Amino acid sequence: MTGATSGIGLETVRLLASRGYRVLGIGHRPDAILRAENDIQSSVPQASVRYFCADLLQQREILHLAGELTSDVETNSHGRLHALINNAGCARSRYMTTEDGIEHQFALNYLSGCLLTRELLPLLLKARGRVIMSCSQSHKGAKVHWNDLMLRRRYNPLTAYKQSKLCDILFAKALNDRYRSFGLTAYAVDPGLVNTDIGSKAGGIVKAVWRLRRRHGVHPRVPAKTYVFLCQEIPRPCGLYYHACRAQVPSREVTGEQAGRLLQLSERLCGISFEVPA
Ligand SMILES: NC(=O)c1ccc[n+]([C@@H]2O[C@H](COP(=O)([O-])OP(=O)(O)OC[C@H]3O[C@@H](n4cnc5c(N)ncnc54)[C@H](OP(=O)(O)O)[C@@H]3O)[C@@H](O)[C@H]2O)c1
Repeated sequence: MTGATSGIGLETVRLLASRGYRVLGIGHRPDAILRAENDIQSSVPQASVRYFCADLLQQREILHLAGELTSDVETNSHGRLHALINNAGCARSRYMTTEDGIEHQFALNYLSGCLLTRELLPLLLKARGRVIMSCSQSHKGAKVHWNDLMLRRRYNPLTAYKQSKLCDILFAKALNDRYRSFGLTAYAVDPGLVNTDIGSKAGGIVKAVWRLRRRHGVHPRVPAKTYVFLCQEIPRPCGLYYHACRAQVPSREVTGEQAGRLLQLSERLCGISFEVPA
């Protein structure tokens, strides 16, 4: 689980651990990781949780992390990764780019999950696993700006956030289109409005708006149930986009053609290839 140190991610780790799953959590700040470890261990004393540290805004750190995760899963879980939850996310109030030249919200909210999934694909396929993307209802009304993906020309933080969430669901669709016949299933979750710190970390106008908006949000343990449902339900749910454990209708922008186009573009941005197993 990425974004496992706070909000929705932390509560999902707690719920999975309380049900006896071995959980690998990803954070990017050592102090937040330590706090999360202590928090989980005190509420679920029998928890089997191991945290890893990586800045998912940087592709080289994702690649390093994937190596660490792979050796853990090979040693402790027979090389089978049953679920990957790409949940780390951020909001930004101004245009910022990573060392790879990618706009922050696109890089973290979508592309980091895409690259991590690609790197862990052998472990996921071996387990006939599940991939879950943290999406948002705000993907509705958004479009992928194919000619200006980073929105360099006219940056609007909210437009960038919504586009990144549309990409999450398009990616889940692309994975299903390519790998469902090999046993892999992908989902996108709309957690609803959740009272977390996500907007407070953004600064500027986003922080001010979020301070008012978050009051109407539910506790993160509410959406955690949907993530756990999608990880463990048997037979596996057959929808693409879920809220409160129920399949929902996604935006009309979610088509096979757009999903395939995004996958190709992402392959170029990360220098990877989503191959079909022999
Ligand atoms: N809250 C909502 O109402 C809502 C609604 C729809 C969708 N979502 C989505 O749900 C997901 C979780 O959000 P949340 O609300 O639970 O917010 P959150 O508490 O801020 O969680 C975000 C997580 O991502 C981590 N993160 C941030 N930057 C990172 C980086 N560079 N590398 C690795 N990890 C990083 C954060 O770690 P630190 O705290 O250490 O920075 C944190 O653990 C996001 O994808 C968000 O877009 C949230």
